Order: sequence, then structure tokens, then C-alpha cells
Amino acid sequence: MNQYKHIPLGFTRMPTQDQVRASREFLERMAMRRSVRFISPEPVPFELIENAIRCASLAPSGANQQPWKFVVVKDREIKRKIREAAEAEERESYEHRMPADWLEALAPLGTDWRKEFLETAPYLIVVFRIDFGLTQTPEGETKTKHYYVQESVGIATGFLLAALHMSGLATLTHTPSPMGFLSTILNRPKNERPFVLIPVGLPSPDATVPTIAKKTIAEVMEIK
Ligand SMILES: Cc1cc2nc3c(=O)[nH]c(=O)nc-3n(C[C@H](O)[C@H](O)[C@H](O)COP(=O)(O)O)c2cc1C
Repeated sequence: MNQYKHIPLGFTRMPTQDQVRASREFLERMAMRRSVRFISPEPVPFELIENAIRCASLAPSGANQQPWKFVVVKDREIKRKIREAAEAEERESYEHRMPADWLEALAPLGTDWRKEFLETAPYLIVVFRIDFGLTQTPEGETKTKHYYVQESVGIATGFLLAALHMSGLATLTHTPSPMGFLSTILNRPKNERPFVLIPVGLPSPDATVPTIAKKTIAEVMEIK
């Protein structure tokens, strides 16, 4: 079995006060992140999208398999198709599929089946999980097992959302259910499955967000 060669870690030790400052500044910026459901059609530089995806693809992953693909949609007609398919699924879900307790959990957010942001956002990033490796050999297809796909893609998506936010962009973590239509519209191979759909852009000038509360540090952290 091949072994990776080891090289010295590139690590710069920061003075403690710089660490604390950086940590506070990052926290302050991240505390301003919200899910935005009103996105302006105003264009944003593509480099912001590409850099955020570069950042996401640096995330740790099970056995370094990097089981993700980020499909960036900027084409108007593809966005229209995605909106149409998402709204059809969401309408069915809201009106027939979601049990009462799910609808109750969503009620405070004021969301419904309408997804205008899927057409107004300058970019949609569709994150796909690659469930297994697929290579073509003269003998046919070879499959390789992927480990911890869900965890890995979840972490990469977190990196992506943080990077987009830190670049001054608004995002929504959107999971129209079921999401199979994304594989068809975007013509994805059979080893990929949609994970999340992220509209990205600037917020509309009149964008609002629901008043929600985050758990306190005492609720989410335990020290032993
Ligand atoms: C896995 C996941 C799926 C989500 N799916 C949707 C969705 O389909 N539609 C939507 O409007 N918001 C969706 N959200 C956004 C949440 O409603 C939102 O993150 C939550 O209310 C907290 O608000 P905040 O992101 O502004 O802090 C999703 C969030 C996550 C993490």
C-alpha cells in the first residue's frame, strides 16, 4: 500500500492576544450571519463564489476522499427550471406531505412553497455528495467505498457558508424535499446525490429575517 510522504506542518504560532482578537473578530462577523430568503438580482463578482468553493474544498474529509462537488448555476434558464421543480415539490410537501408537527416547527419562520430567491439570486450553488468513487476501467466500472460522506459534506458546507458570509454575501441553506430533480436538471452522474441548494447574492434592500433566538453558551457547552 502507498503511504503519504510526511512534510513539516506549515504553522505560524500566534501571540495569545492576537489569537483572542482574531477569535473575537470572527465571532462578531459570524454572529451577523442569517439565512436570507430575499436575494437581490444585483450581480456579484464570480471570484467570491470561486474562492468560497476553494475554501470549502479545503475542509477535512473521511480518508481525505473529498466526497463533494459544487455545481454553480448562473444560467437564467437553468435557475428557472430549478425554481419550477423546487416549487412543485415544496407545494406538494407543504400542502400534503409534511406532518402537522413539521409545519408547526416551520410556522415561526413564515416560509411557504414559493421560492422566488431561486431565480433572483445571481448564483445558486448546489452541493452534491459523492456517495462512492466511480472509475472507468477497460473491464468496466469500478466502485470505491467512501467513508463518512454525510459528515464530510456537512463540514465542507459549513466552510462554504462561512466563507460566503465573510465575503459579504447572503446565503440560504435550502433543502427542497425531495431534491432528486437537481440531479436530473444538472445532469449529474449516478454516484452523486444533492445535499443542499444554496442561493447566493446580496440581500434585497428590503430583506427581512425572522426573529429567532440562538441557544446560550450555557445551553450548548458543557465543561467537565
Ligand atoms: C440542513 C438545513 C436545511 C434547511 N432547509 C431550509 C429550507 O429548505 N428552507 C428554508 O427557508 N430554510 C432552510 N434552512 C434554514 C433554517 O431555517 C435556518 O438556518 C434557521 O431557521 C436558523 O436561522 P439562521 O440561519 O438565520 O440563523 C435550513 C437549514 C439547515 C441547516
